[in-house]
Amino acid sequence: MFSKSTYTKRRKQLAKDVQKGLILILGNGDSAFNYPANIYTFRQDSTFRYFFEFNLPSLAGVIDAETGDDYLFGEDVSIDDIIWTGPVASIRERANEIGVKNSGSHADLIKLLEDAIAKGRKIHFTPAYRAENTNLLSMLLHIKKDHVNKFASKTLIKAIVKQRSVKSIEEVDEIEKAIDTAYIMHTTMMKMAANIGTYEYEIAGKMEGLALSGGGPVSFPIILTTHGEILHGHDHSLKLKKGRMLVSDAGCETPSGYCSDITRTVPCGGKFDPRQKGIYEAVLNANLQAIKMIAPGIPYRDVHLKAVTTLGEGLKAIGLMKGDINEAVKEGAMGLFMPHGLGHMMGMDVHDMEGFGEDNVGYDEKYTRSTQFGLRSLRLGKELQPGYVLTDEPGCYFIPALIDKFKAEKKFTDFVNYKELESYKDFGGIRIEDDILVTEKGYRVLGTPIPKTVKEIEELMNE
Ligand code: GLY
Ligand code: MN
Ligand code: MN
Repeated sequence: MFSKSTYTKRRKQLAKDVQKGLILILGNGDSAFNYPANIYTFRQDSTFRYFFEFNLPSLAGVIDAETGDDYLFGEDVSIDDIIWTGPVASIRERANEIGVKNSGSHADLIKLLEDAIAKGRKIHFTPAYRAENTNLLSMLLHIKKDHVNKFASKTLIKAIVKQRSVKSIEEVDEIEKAIDTAYIMHTTMMKMAANIGTYEYEIAGKMEGLALSGGGPVSFPIILTTHGEILHGHDHSLKLKKGRMLVSDAGCETPSGYCSDITRTVPCGGKFDPRQKGIYEAVLNANLQAIKMIAPGIPYRDVHLKAVTTLGEGLKAIGLMKGDINEAVKEGAMGLFMPHGLGHMMGMDVHDMEGFGEDNVGYDEKYTRSTQFGLRSLRLGKELQPGYVLTDEPGCYFIPALIDKFKAEKKFTDFVNYKELESYKDFGGIRIEDDILVTEKGYRVLGTPIPKTVKEIEELMNE
């Protein structure tokens, strides 16, 4: 955990920004897997950890935005619990560790909220993303379950996004620790993928184990597939075959709750064939050109557009596209090859704060989300600020159903060589993803560089 003063400063700033009413920040509870006593691995709410740190179930924090008073609520354990859990610090002791003045039980939380409601005070809370917390908010605040998220506080969301978006040096250090583990995960993947006949699940299982060995779980279910054109394919059942590319999109969490999110794509067997090298270098160029543009004040939407333009130029050089690529980008033709956005904010959540709603994090009054296919999937469009950590993850995919649909509809015929594209329908996909810090003057690619060029990948795979 960070120093006591870090949590105190964060809560004080939040009270100052919200100004009026009570701020209620619920932690997560345990969640049943297949029967009540068999639970999913516990995952604390990231906002709760940001302000109240503890990675334990069934806690709640409250901050009075007017007085700055803060509270930690939870149940102290009895001897009956200690038999199962071992000794556990009391709620009071925990509150002291993070500089919180007041502490109490769940009954005390209910009383505090009832008193505030009786006085007509506003209770600010963020949208619930788990049914358990929807039910709890419904009970605590007397709101019908279906309406809970409609009453989530825009003021609170804005204030939290403002703070959590700008990472401190100590937070960036944590993210880099998560990338260190991702380095081991991805270089291990590369070595394993050199062997044709290995099953995807052997590699995915090894990578997940390496995340756990690094102290935390994976930051999202690993995407490890020789069918990279299936964007979030979680199937790992196939054998690595010569001629296919293996997309590996994986990251982990540190014990302190910070994430990494890295993608590398390698040729099964360890050697790129000319067709694979051509597409790979077009994607790599998009990744590199995007990185170079990252700086404070630059809208990430423009970085996305630069990346897809670079990809389009690369595909034109190969003969898969034609005509004016700037026009192709404007008309939305690049969505055929890259239907997702260039990246997203990253931090304690791998898609940072996405539980608040993507547009509340990645867009603002000045930059609103496009409705155009492809660009509409961009999660981060607004201007960058120093301290933002984001992903740069261009990709190129050959999705047979999408190619057939656009071809049948005669879409983008001025820009797409459908005849050439036919022979790429068995290609799969490629994605390359790095985690980047926006600095005062530009950017820093975080972590120890993970092999990324054709030469670096082939060298490592054939070591
Ligand atoms: N793992 C999904 C992503 O890269 O955003
Ligand atoms: Mn990823
Ligand atoms: Mn990502």
